[in-house]
Amino acid sequence: MKYNSKSPIAVVDSGVGGITVLRKLYKLMPNEDYIYFGDSANAPYGVKTKDEIRNLTVKACEALMERGAKAVVIACNTATSAAAAYLREKYPDFIFIGLEPALKPAALSGENPKVLVLATPLTLKEEKFDNLMAKFADRAEFIKLPAPELVRFIEGGNLDSEEEIAYLEKILSPYTDGRVDAVVLGCTHFPFARKCIQRILGEKVQFFEGSKGAANYCKLCLEEKGLLNSADREGSISFENSDENKIEISKKMFYYKG
Ligand code: DGL
Repeated sequence: MKYNSKSPIAVVDSGVGGITVLRKLYKLMPNEDYIYFGDSANAPYGVKTKDEIRNLTVKACEALMERGAKAVVIACNTATSAAAAYLREKYPDFIFIGLEPALKPAALSGENPKVLVLATPLTLKEEKFDNLMAKFADRAEFIKLPAPELVRFIEGGNLDSEEEIAYLEKILSPYTDGRVDAVVLGCTHFPFARKCIQRILGEKVQFFEGSKGAANYCKLCLEEKGLLNSADREGSISFENSDENKIEISKKMFYYKG
């Protein structure tokens, strides 16, 4: 693995969801070069077994490391749950940034808030998630809500479609009594549905996601290792996907004003 400060940052996800993280990275470090890899041919990950997800994630990350990436952002809560610990142990000197549901800021956002955590089935059933939830269990009331179909709608690139709205209205119907204070978007695909969820649950509901924190942490890790690109110019983004048809959709979603 050969890389230096001019090498690209790789960003990986099961599909187009990690673009929500790429947007935050690019905003924070616009002079860096990025390779965005979405594994849409194998999406969704969240309904697969942990072993399957780990194998797919490790394969994607190692391919990008081979190509000289200086860091890999695993822009997927599900892939982070399944593979980040394994990758960090295998490559202890390499920078892997993971994503995890933003329970802490949500728990601290009010007086014992009622927090709805939307994520994939895999993320919500992992011990890693239960451990995280246990840390803040005395500060908030958490409700786990798996939303696997939402990943499929967003993967289709047809944002705010009638089917997506009907699905969200159905799964959110037990929570429209105004008692939910906060929503954690614990899947990187879901910020693309934030406005729609807000319309259903009401204006007072606050939203939390891990992408900004992950971008800040990525910058810090690069800085610590002297790997920040000092070039004074706009960086490039190479969009790649295991399903060729998703490349144009990915570009469109990068600029989506949602
Ligand atoms: N974007 C992924 C996450 O953050 C999950 C999507 C999938 O199920 O493939 O968890």
